[in-house]
Amino acid sequence: MCGIVGYVGKSQARDFLLEGLKRLEYRGYDSAGVAFFNREAFKIARKTGRVANLAASVHANDLDGSMGISHTRWATHGDVTEDNAHPQTSSDGLFTLVHNGVIENFSQIKNFLEEQGYTFSSQTDTESLANLIAYHYAKEPEQNGKNRFFVSVRKALLHVHGTYGIVVMCRDYPGELVGARNGSPLIVGIGDGEFYVASDASAFAGKSQNVVYLNDGEVIHFDSKNFNIKTIADEAVEAVVQKIENRLEDYDLGDFRHYMEKEIFEQPNALQNAMRGRFSDDNSTAKFGGLNIEPHELRQIDRILFCACGTAWHACLVAEYMIEKYARIPVEVEYASEFRYRNAPLDKNTLVVVISQSGETIDTLAALKEAKRKGYRVFAITNAVGSTIAREVHGGVYQHAGPEIGVASTKAFTSQALIAAMLALYLGRIRDMSYSEGAKFVTALKTLPELVNNVLNQSDQILAIAKKYAQYEDFLFLGRQNMFPIALEGALKLKEISYIHAEGYPAAEMKHGPIALISEKCPSLFLATGGEIFSKTLANIQEVKARKGKVIVIATDSCEFPEDLVDDLIRVPDCHDALQPILACIPVQLLSYYIAVERGCDVDKPRNLAKSVTVE
Ligand code: AGP
Ligand code: GLU
Repeated sequence: MCGIVGYVGKSQARDFLLEGLKRLEYRGYDSAGVAFFNREAFKIARKTGRVANLAASVHANDLDGSMGISHTRWATHGDVTEDNAHPQTSSDGLFTLVHNGVIENFSQIKNFLEEQGYTFSSQTDTESLANLIAYHYAKEPEQNGKNRFFVSVRKALLHVHGTYGIVVMCRDYPGELVGARNGSPLIVGIGDGEFYVASDASAFAGKSQNVVYLNDGEVIHFDSKNFNIKTIADEAVEAVVQKIENRLEDYDLGDFRHYMEKEIFEQPNALQNAMRGRFSDDNSTAKFGGLNIEPHELRQIDRILFCACGTAWHACLVAEYMIEKYARIPVEVEYASEFRYRNAPLDKNTLVVVISQSGETIDTLAALKEAKRKGYRVFAITNAVGSTIAREVHGGVYQHAGPEIGVASTKAFTSQALIAAMLALYLGRIRDMSYSEGAKFVTALKTLPELVNNVLNQSDQILAIAKKYAQYEDFLFLGRQNMFPIALEGALKLKEISYIHAEGYPAAEMKHGPIALISEKCPSLFLATGGEIFSKTLANIQEVKARKGKVIVIATDSCEFPEDLVDDLIRVPDCHDALQPILACIPVQLLSYYIAVERGCDVDKPRNLAKSVTVE
């Protein structure tokens, strides 16, 4: 995963490219680079570290041009060095390109090209592609009517195995760009006498809402006025121009210190958006516009398989609890990266649902393609309109949570959990759920934004607790039933932004091993809701306390604790149990955020991570 931004048009490219890179920096931030092109030669700057380092160098050397390509890297092949930063240039100096993805057969390509006299100055797989394009260009005869540049890129890609999103410049073709994709996203924004190209539309937010999404195996050639798309097999492609929301203000940090903080506090609004227009007129069930399947077909479904990665996988676990409880349909949850290779035996009446905030996670995309290949109907719950996953599935539900920039997923997760609850309601009401139960469910869902606000209003108390626990190096997160996914989510949140070793378990599992970790140096966070299992959770808390373990509890108001049992208690309102995972997740997010800030971590861009994992 990396960020690619390109520009060709009537203006100078520098400011657009640097601003666009900053917006995509959440996709990867090991190094950054840019190449400008006027007429004579490429003007290239590359820096390790953040885009700000690159911007300083570009301004210091007054680099600019009427076209350019730029890249913020998440290294897969080669150390984080300037030589390995993109753009990568062919050894004959004719081509320079930026690349998102992995060229799996780069060694074979490199060995062949070295025999042809091409030289290499980096450890990257990407440089092999730059030289491969140069090789095909040198072999391509000057033919009238054929654009040698476009043909050479296309022919080179026929020999590439792996994933790519690329944008290429050729010194013989000033004012022209060639882009291509296979597995890594590439989107073109259409301006007035200019074109923008990027890994995602946020790079040109506020500049264009008319876009063309490139599909796998497509190559696009464009100058400042026109564009032309072909498949790498040289078949013409009819471009589909789509209109998307791409508002600049969505990327404005406002008064928040980090995007993660902003997105945590945006959740009432994001949850409202997920529900907008999605309840029946009689307020007894949910409705979705994009499922593309009739109720009578859904009644034939006798199993649902959810697939995702990371936090989205935790949302799948929430969905499992909800759908099995309210729709009585068996649900399985699989990591997408496992499902894609496992060849799981599924009944023919299985519905596959993938969850992906970015809509670009390569393992999730591969899992859905595998399910489609076997004839299963596939849905997606995604936050990215027009994303690759959104375009691949048979139907699904958009989250409408707004762009999520912070690498650690927050509003996207609670939005996914809410949509899972609404899906459970919908499926329940086309099966055995009564009108009155459905109406109660809808009434509860409508109170969710306000309840989330109530919990957010405790942020000062949660900050104070965070300060007490910021220096611990180990943490256990424990919860039962629908709180278990939140225990996992809390552990992931804490570890990915504060680098504290944290593990999530079903609370009862603690006695089967993890309790050995309990000591004054390893606090535990319990997620407790009322009801018949509360007494069991209470017993687990006492087991921790008996071993001198500190205990933080996030509990619904009705949970009663013996005096002085817990060290720190955060209350969330009693509510319909379908809402409990969402409410309980809010303090978990805040606690992780405040601890990471207290530890001086880079909350929005945690080390080694990137927002959208488009490499395997
Ligand atoms: C969560 O905080 C992480 N950023 C990561 O686990 C993420 O949820 C995962 O990579 C899946 O991303 P997706 O939802 O865009 O597919
Ligand atoms: N594989 C290329 C490299 O390691 C691109 C990585 C990326 O997608 O950022 O440089």
